[in-house]
Amino acid sequence: MKLNTLLKYSLVLSIASIGFTSCTSSGDNAGIEYAPNMYRSQAYEPFTQDHLSEYNPYGMTMRLPVRGTIARGQGGYLYPHANTGDGYEASASYASWVPSTEKNVREGERLYTINCQQCHGKSGGNDGAIFKSKKMPGPSWPNYQSEYIQTIPQGKIYHTITYGKGLMGSHAAMLTPEERWKVISYVKELSVGKENFKYAEEVSSVNINNGDANLHNSGDNTGSAVGEFTPEMQTKVKSFATRILFQGLPKRKELKNSSFAVLDELAEMLKANPNARLKIIGNTGATLTEAGAETLGMDRASTVKAYLISKGVNAAKLNAQSAGNDKMDGNIVDAEARSENRNVELILY
Ligand code: HEC
Repeated sequence: MKLNTLLKYSLVLSIASIGFTSCTSSGDNAGIEYAPNMYRSQAYEPFTQDHLSEYNPYGMTMRLPVRGTIARGQGGYLYPHANTGDGYEASASYASWVPSTEKNVREGERLYTINCQQCHGKSGGNDGAIFKSKKMPGPSWPNYQSEYIQTIPQGKIYHTITYGKGLMGSHAAMLTPEERWKVISYVKELSVGKENFKYAEEVSSVNINNGDANLHNSGDNTGSAVGEFTPEMQTKVKSFATRILFQGLPKRKELKNSSFAVLDELAEMLKANPNARLKIIGNTGATLTEAGAETLGMDRASTVKAYLISKGVNAAKLNAQSAGNDKMDGNIVDAEARSENRNVELILY
């Protein structure tokens, strides 16, 4: 074989081997990647490490919540009493936020059957399989029907379920705070008997699933119902706005006569929908100085507001603002356009 051919072959071989080795990955080297975005997320992944910085000394992508903050709906997890004798005594006044409605008690029964009856027995007779087997001594009180369980404050039971007591372990991992209260209602029902137990009334408007209820009761449960308007209403109000017009100089803060009938109609509509709030934004019909436009717009909005109030609309539902020169950016010279702009914009919210 000629030396030349040998060189040629070895060159081809070495190029091929460079080619192969450069594609393989090893150790820290990922090798050549086509479309690396498919392997490595461009977005931060919660459980990966970010680079360290002064503000992120542990390089955590998923950050810890600010100290003392509570996620929505998790307020019930904030149990204020410590796992101590004093904490147990103090728990006596810890009150339930889950009403013992018949439905909740039945759910409590279901949870009791899963988590408690193996020790305390089907009807709270302390005759569950575990106590029966004598592998574990039962409580000092004979059964749930004893005076001890009849009179024990619910908060203390909550404390015991949360932390455990004596040989009874903590059930915090098995029962959410809300479920604990349901089980407690059932324990109380067992202790006095169904016929003597006073069920709370079903109240559909109270959000019993909200563990925050004991922290703040201000919750506006009417939620999104407020401020929802049909597109028709919004359109109608917009068409009102095109017909509520002001005069030009010298009485430019005064409404044109034709406007009053429209305002009367608007007032009736607002009174019929007490949830409706109305934003009134006053426009100018000419480019004025910044301050001048601000004032004129505000004057016009206030005029409309005052008139609506005089017709019986709740003042708290009306919000007057000024558009300033916003609408007049192009410095409209056309007289008709200017006169159309001597109006207010109306927005329901
Ligand atoms: C492994 C057995 C076991 C299970 C399961 C168990 N308990 Fe107990 N429970 C005990 C023992 C033992 C005591 C007595 C503790 C003591 O006073 O030292 C006790 C005590 C109690 C008390 C009295 C509390 C107090 O403050 O004195 C109540 C009420 C109670 N349990 C309810 C429950 C409920 C509800 C469940 C289910 C969520 C449950 N137990 C699950 C064993 C158990």
